[in-house]
Amino acid sequence: MRGCLMGKGSGYGKAILFNEHFVIYSVPSIVSAIDKATTATVEHSSGSGWTLEDSRPATPGYKEEKLEQQKESIERILKAAGIGPTETPIKITFGGDLVAASGIGASAASCTALARALSDEFNLGLSDGRINELAYEGEKGYHGSPSGIDNTAATYGGLIWFVRGEPNVMERIKIKRPVEVVMGNTGLVANTKVAVAGVRERKEKSPEKYEKLFNEAKELAFMAKKALVDYDLKAVGKLMDENHRQLQAIEVSCKELNHLVDLARANGAYGAKMTGGGLGGNMVALTPGKDLQDQVARAIKKEGFDVLMTRIG
Ligand code: MEV
Repeated sequence: MRGCLMGKGSGYGKAILFNEHFVIYSVPSIVSAIDKATTATVEHSSGSGWTLEDSRPATPGYKEEKLEQQKESIERILKAAGIGPTETPIKITFGGDLVAASGIGASAASCTALARALSDEFNLGLSDGRINELAYEGEKGYHGSPSGIDNTAATYGGLIWFVRGEPNVMERIKIKRPVEVVMGNTGLVANTKVAVAGVRERKEKSPEKYEKLFNEAKELAFMAKKALVDYDLKAVGKLMDENHRQLQAIEVSCKELNHLVDLARANGAYGAKMTGGGLGGNMVALTPGKDLQDQVARAIKKEGFDVLMTRIG
């Protein structure tokens, strides 16, 4: 049954601060939602099935590259929400101020936004837990077997300790006050599925090397949580640097990401690392205070890259 003229919803973008990729194998991870979001509206339309207007700002090429995955994702969400041919035709519109780019949680933000808009339009009364499940279902359209970290950040917001499991562990990390960060966009549209498959392949080929790296990443997550809670930002930055090295070791960084990370560090960032799936997409630099944030953002912009100045926590 339709509830209103137009259902609305939104989902946050995110920055993974520690242990993307490792998180797939149940290594603890830390993610923060950011203050940019994707919005979705759902409205009755004519014709049959669903149509999509994707008005999100985006990295050039991103939407075209992801279109097939996006279609599968939408189908999955509709199915999981129990919305079939008798409820459609509907028109779905995506918008908001989150730039659709790799590494920033764009797919998860849109999945959460759509789940919320459907709940609103069809009076489903879905809880956050159920919204998160639908968004997870949608994320599968983008990369097969996601860990669930991105949709959890998109749905709940805030700073989160996340461990994949049955069930997932999700704890809020409380810090004294939010911290400024700069996200730098390589402009490269990356395929998370490919990055995830690459790690799996190399892990199978060199189990001992990877086991050691995975154990180190696990230890680092606990140190990072403590440093965040203690608000020891220098320590948080150093751990981000270390995590970047670990991500380089599992071969998910690339020269453009390494360049942005080096640039951020050279301009005073407390620490910097790639964030998200890697092989392109975004890096995140810890830049406490407006002045440092401006300084790092300026240096990156000067080289022609897009930046996002936001906060974690
Ligand atoms: C992507 O934002 C994070 C990855 O760890 C994939 C996942 O957790 O599903 C690369």
